[in-house]
Amino acid sequence: MCIFAYLNYHVPRTRREILEVLIKGLHRLEYRGYDSAGVGIDGGNSKEWETNSKSIHLIKQTGKVKALDEEIHRQQDVDLDVEFDVHLGIAHTRWATHGAPSPVNSHPQRSDKNNEFIVIHNGIITNYKDLKKFLESKGYEFESETDTETIAKLVKYMYDNRESDAITFTTLVEQVTQQLEGAFVLVFKSLHYPGEAVGSRRGGPLLIGVRSDHKLSTDHIPILYRSCEQLIYKHSYSGKNVVMHSGKDKKSCNTLPRMDEDTCLFPVDEKAVEYYFASDASAVIEHTNRVIFLEDDDIAAVRDGRLSIHRIKRTAGDHPARAIQTLQMELQQIMKGNFSSFMQKEIFEQPESVVNTMRGRVNFENNTVILGGLKDHIKEIQRCRRLIMIACGTSYHAGVATRQVLEELTELPVMVELASDFLDRNTPVFRDDVCFFISQSGETADSLLALRYCKERGALTVGITNTVGSSISRETDCGVHINAGPEIGVASTKAYTSQFVALIMFALLMCDDRISVQPRRREIIQGLKVLPDLIKEVLSLDEEIQKLAAELYKQKSVLIMGRGYHYATCLEGALKIKEITYMHSEGILAGELKHGPLALVDKLMPVIMIIMRDHTYNKCQNALQQVVARQGRPIVICDKEDNETINNSSRTIKVPHCLDCLQGILSVIPLQMLSFHLAVLRGYDVDCPRNLAKSVTVE
Ligand code: UD1
Ligand code: BG6
Repeated sequence: MCIFAYLNYHVPRTRREILEVLIKGLHRLEYRGYDSAGVGIDGGNSKEWETNSKSIHLIKQTGKVKALDEEIHRQQDVDLDVEFDVHLGIAHTRWATHGAPSPVNSHPQRSDKNNEFIVIHNGIITNYKDLKKFLESKGYEFESETDTETIAKLVKYMYDNRESDAITFTTLVEQVTQQLEGAFVLVFKSLHYPGEAVGSRRGGPLLIGVRSDHKLSTDHIPILYRSCEQLIYKHSYSGKNVVMHSGKDKKSCNTLPRMDEDTCLFPVDEKAVEYYFASDASAVIEHTNRVIFLEDDDIAAVRDGRLSIHRIKRTAGDHPARAIQTLQMELQQIMKGNFSSFMQKEIFEQPESVVNTMRGRVNFENNTVILGGLKDHIKEIQRCRRLIMIACGTSYHAGVATRQVLEELTELPVMVELASDFLDRNTPVFRDDVCFFISQSGETADSLLALRYCKERGALTVGITNTVGSSISRETDCGVHINAGPEIGVASTKAYTSQFVALIMFALLMCDDRISVQPRRREIIQGLKVLPDLIKEVLSLDEEIQKLAAELYKQKSVLIMGRGYHYATCLEGALKIKEITYMHSEGILAGELKHGPLALVDKLMPVIMIIMRDHTYNKCQNALQQVVARQGRPIVICDKEDNETINNSSRTIKVPHCLDCLQGILSVIPLQMLSFHLAVLRGYDVDCPRNLAKSVTVE
């Protein structure tokens, strides 16, 4: 999901030029992954800007930005040569989270058929269902399945119910953002405020590039605070009170603080200026290197060519201004942030991606879990006789990783199956089975065929997918979107940890009314709460792991051993190493060591062992002794507080402690990082390993 908007103020541009800027901006953001795209521009073919700005034209298309560009050129009634002295165009690439990819679900989303307000949005609005219900009760009709449409309708609602015609666009957006829960980056355009742009963010990045040949009024834009503390305007939806407008000091709330020379950015002498709003610097850098990075809850508005930044409440520690910064980076550099590959970027995104998986679903205060995608089927699932998890590759490992906790909390037999083998065996499946299909892409052919096989046999099918609108998401009876965001590196990393978390949430849901397991449930939920910080701590080991990789990268083979909760980590770590370093690597169940693999161990064979302080600890210590006795010198991934293991091992990677059934999320990350560094040192393309595809749509 990416945002790009372009505002030209007294810089005459033809519609063709404006669209070219917008399309190019979207192209620059393509690397982030998306499934549809759209633009919103002024309509009309008159030579007068004032006339044209009385209508807004939306063009949206599924698929690539190229398809959108072609769609733009197919529009018969759009004169590309019309010139605009002032204009705002907004553009977006969408990664479906609410409703399948389609033009109507693409952004910009609109308030009504006249496009009075349009909006582009990154993120997820978790209370959109309540807001939608409220707006529907007020007569607003919805056309898409998106959460974003509620934002477009809500801003119109605020406008329709305004107390004064003097209400500014900024005030409307302030009122709207106060109602939104979840994460968002937004840019609005409106017929009622031609040539004005308003953007806001919470939980996602938004920056504004400024370009002008003239001197700018300031290099620090002071924050403007509203004089009243809170906006109160009572309506109710779903039994809740919606705080919508100020009762405290209505007058001052409807007008903005003074906007003069000292409070906004503009070219001195009111000359030409261009502004670029973007969720990522890569879309802006070719136009300007002068940018302002917004912070959470900032509202940035351009009106009459002047940029001002607003906040509703002053909080201690707030920085009083936003500085214009000069970007030194090259385009290529920015695309992947500070990372050299998408895989590395995705590894480092995990503290946020696991939060996104839990967002709006886990309530850490009252220890509850809600999975909206399963609520209509959970009773049926609770009655089933067996759970079968079916997947391929990394997704299969997510099933292996969570099997034990699923067995513990559901007290059901749980099978974990590789899709191809499951089909080869013609595995018996019954009507009272519940079959899970775990898939990042939601398109893997083997998993999809297994899904159809289980459906034919009358089993209830549940998807655990990262891709809304994918075949598995559509064909399963119900499911959970893991919301990890697009994963581009072929070697899956953040999807694995999010699948893991999603399956844990499912296990918690299955036993939420069993009194005997409540202490365990609470412990797991509180464990999930601290997970993002612990992941960050593991990521801080990167340099140490890079050094380890430098010692290992010339080896031919690496064995990874563990058991219990960490057997899956061994399999997944070995898969990562195979996939991108082309070294031989094997994940070995430590319990099987003496039944064969021990023969491989000698003083030359690199061995990584995972030993954590859970119920398998003593057995793992035995395995360690067996390896050491064969002159093996294993590198041990262990709990940083486990002095016994630390003292008995020649080499350790120390990770923070977390709850036993969640520890596998922390133990896999060092191996993700290790495989990445090994591949880099061996000189291979980390993101596109030879012979492999991100999504395997053939059997
Ligand atoms: C939905 C929103 C989510 C929002 C939340 C808050 C969508 C797609 N998701 O999430 O962004 O934060 O409400 O109200 O609108 N499904 C399958 N198979 C799958 C995956 C999902 O059938 O493999 C179905 C689910 O059963 C559900 C729908 O798709 O009907 C959406 O699933 P999910 O996104 O997980 O639902 P919520 O968590 O409710
Ligand atoms: C491919 C990928 O083989 O498919 C793997 O290269 C992935 O990384 C596997 O784990 C399964 O994909 P999905 O999309 O079904 O999770």
